[in-house]
Amino acid sequence: MAYSSMKTFALLALASAVVATPCPYGALAERGALPKAEADKFFAARAERDVNLDDVKLAKREAEHAAQEQFYKRQLDLGDLLLGGGLLNGILQPFTGVLADLDIPVPQDFSLKLIPGDDAAHQYQAPTSSDVRGMCPTLNTMANHGYIDRSGITTFAEAANACQITLGFGYDTCVFLSALGLLAGGDLPSGAYSIGGADSRVPNTLGPSLGISKHGFFEIDNSISREDYYFGNQADFRLDRWERLVNITENYDGEFGNSAFAEERVLVYNEAKNNNPTFDAGIRWLAVSTAERVFIFRALPNGTHETLSDYQNVAPFYLNETFPENWFRRANAYSLVETGTDIANLLLSSSEITTPGQNEGLNNFVPLGIDLGSVTPTEASCFLASAIFDETPGFLAPGLVDNFDTVEAFLNGAVAPFFAQFNCAISGYAQPGANASSSTTGVSTDCNVLVNGVYQC
Ligand code: HEM
Ligand SMILES: *[C@@H]1O[C@H](CO)[C@@H](O)[C@H](O)[C@H]1NC(C)=O
Ligand SMILES: *[C@@H]1O[C@H](CO)[C@@H](O)[C@H](O)[C@H]1NC(C)=O
Ligand SMILES: *[C@@H]1O[C@H](CO)[C@@H](O)[C@H](O)[C@H]1NC(C)=O
Ligand SMILES: *[C@@H]1O[C@H](CO)[C@@H](O)[C@H](O)[C@H]1NC(C)=O
Repeated sequence: MAYSSMKTFALLALASAVVATPCPYGALAERGALPKAEADKFFAARAERDVNLDDVKLAKREAEHAAQEQFYKRQLDLGDLLLGGGLLNGILQPFTGVLADLDIPVPQDFSLKLIPGDDAAHQYQAPTSSDVRGMCPTLNTMANHGYIDRSGITTFAEAANACQITLGFGYDTCVFLSALGLLAGGDLPSGAYSIGGADSRVPNTLGPSLGISKHGFFEIDNSISREDYYFGNQADFRLDRWERLVNITENYDGEFGNSAFAEERVLVYNEAKNNNPTFDAGIRWLAVSTAERVFIFRALPNGTHETLSDYQNVAPFYLNETFPENWFRRANAYSLVETGTDIANLLLSSSEITTPGQNEGLNNFVPLGIDLGSVTPTEASCFLASAIFDETPGFLAPGLVDNFDTVEAFLNGAVAPFFAQFNCAISGYAQPGANASSSTTGVSTDCNVLVNGVYQC
């Protein structure tokens, strides 16, 4: 066997050791059942791979930490960290002052792992009538399995941790998502938020906490399986939208992949542009509508077949809000860099440029002047930054508009460091203006138990 294919073999052997199905070749070598020359080659290849991998990983991490420290010092010099935070050695630093009680998400380990496996604390339990569910299928799934509180009332840290633990998304991506959720509808000082609509169990320290399904901040038009706010409950799963998506995937070997979503997103864009008089395709739409689509084929495949986002793996999250049977999370952290790359690719492979803008009544689409014709991965990552840093028009809860210094301190301390590498023009973003706030509350799903795509009430 050639040396290079030996290496590949060694890699496979290691990978299968992780999932406890021993590679026959590696097992033979370990048992001493191979000719000595062959066994020596096997162990040498494995050792070399280990050393090299560790060296590369270590060097990369050291470089990352050095860059973080530099950015941290710059933030201190600029007086940006008024309430603490900042990123050092790969972990967010504690907050102070009004944010002193805000728990910090913790970086988790990444490896192929059965979720939930036989972990007794994380088996599926249907939500009870007092449990809140909303429009994020994976948050609903995490709640049904107790990775976040089963009530559906979670926190900044809890959801960011569960996002890493259950889906293998990176610390950066998970902190960003949970920060966006917290600002969309939560209570900043305690970090608490409802994964659906407004709920009395979430404190209202700075002003009313409206729930993350509050329209316009994180909840957007053109969702995959939910309908636009204008037409009804934006949190409810819609079987017809799902079935249409499934039909589209059938043109692509049953894959819920980039090609299927390139087709589907153009379809829903034109549908909303033609029929929804308040269709809002602003900067948050751009970030969220693209990210949620690429997330499907980066988070939901079986970790043992990372590029296979087929019905068997995607459907249980949507139709039953549960993990598929015998399902492994992805093995490597999915970062913001990768998210940007995937979003740029999705945009470039769409058959039509879906111009950002807004309907001010039907047949009156006002473009925003953002050109999506040649978006780079870095620009796409900066769309994510814009979605959270650009507060005009705000859709921010009134309490956050009135306490914008606190919001800014939180963004600087918990979110900005993750975007440092992209050099997005964050400092130039607009502050909330006169009409920035909206006290429209979010909604929960009309009924929270979903079985085979049908609510059981
Ligand atoms: C950890 C914090 C998270 C929060 C606060 C959050 C919040 C949200 C919100 C507000 C939406 C509605 C967006 C819309 O209107 O279209 C949404 C949708 C979605 N989220 Fe999450 N999310 C989180 C994590 C994740 C992760 C890690 C994934 C990975 C798969 C994910 C996958 C999705 C998908 C696929 C949708 C689209 C649902 C549909 O319309 O079919 N979310 N999420
Ligand atoms: C999906 O395709 C099937 C079979 O062609 C068709 O009967 C059904 O109406 C389609 N569903 C939607 C929602 O488009
Ligand atoms: C959803 O759950 C139902 C009831 O347990 C089951 O029959 C069905 O196969 C599940 N669907 C998926 C896609 O896992
Ligand atoms: C995931 O992969 C493992 C190992 O290949 C397999 O046993 C399991 O059935 C797969 N699960 C799903 C949901 O595809
Ligand atoms: C604020 O809203 C009012 C009423 O809808 C509108 O007349 C005004 O132009 C808005 N101001 C800004 C700065 O957008």
